[in-house]
Amino acid sequence: MEIRQVGPCFAGEVSGIDLTQPLSTGEIGAIHAGMDEYAVLVFHDQRFTDDQQLAFSRSLGELEEAIGTSLRAANEYRLPTTFADVSNLDQNNKPFAHDDRRRLFAIGNRLWHSDSSFKVTPAKYSILHARSIPSKGGNTEFADMRAAYDSFDQETKEMIEGLVCEHSQMYSRRLLGFTDFSAEEQARFQPVRQSLVRTHPSTGRKSVYLSSHAGDILGWPRPEALSLLRDLTELATQREFVYSHEWRQYDLVIWDNRRTMHRARPFPSEEPRDMRRTTLRGEGPTAEQAAA
Ligand code: OGA
Ligand code: MN
Repeated sequence: MEIRQVGPCFAGEVSGIDLTQPLSTGEIGAIHAGMDEYAVLVFHDQRFTDDQQLAFSRSLGELEEAIGTSLRAANEYRLPTTFADVSNLDQNNKPFAHDDRRRLFAIGNRLWHSDSSFKVTPAKYSILHARSIPSKGGNTEFADMRAAYDSFDQETKEMIEGLVCEHSQMYSRRLLGFTDFSAEEQARFQPVRQSLVRTHPSTGRKSVYLSSHAGDILGWPRPEALSLLRDLTELATQREFVYSHEWRQYDLVIWDNRRTMHRARPFPSEEPRDMRRTTLRGEGPTAEQAAA
């Protein structure tokens, strides 16, 4: 297995490994080491079935379930709930209509975010496989939150140290003008708390934990909180920190949500884009939660 850096300060392209087959302990160790070094790894031509993608993902760690995180009703799932269905397809594999609420909700993925930052225990790795891709557009961009943190001046680092944000999928959608949540949805999307600065458990390096799901900073007036989060996001997503991935069919991309953000780019909505994500659970909460 070899890794060639493809991004500005992170992101590697891996060759010489077939992830559809069971991996040795050494190969699994090499993938984790590669993730610690590059934070985003790209593997081409991995012809996974769902079961193979699940088996590969489980060989790297414990899975997070994706139930209740989209607007699909229980009978509208296309994939097992061990997958986050990042496609634009309904349960009959047809692209959602242009004004379908499920499609509009998924447009939230076009905002810079870190996966499952709206969960008490947020995600570790996301493992995204391209089963089919549109004729144009649909890149996924990644930004290095460790390099971003390192670039902040001392005053900024001191100001953000110890701050705790509240994250909810309603906050990211509010940024897009999507606000008509039912009472059931409001209950399901209750905000959770996340530290704004995180220390990576294996590298010991700090990064800024931003996400468009962040919509409040504890103890701060909301306009001031949102303006700081916007400033930090602007700084952290300058092109010098960004790798843009242009998908080929059967690419597998793994990213570390603890030290990167990512966003989807637009594509023709009538074309199928079948992307299937498995997600590994993080180690635990990043901040103390409010008493219920
Ligand atoms: C995701 C995601 C972006 C994309 O899978 O978590 O945000 O380009 N995907 O589909
Ligand atoms: Mn995502």
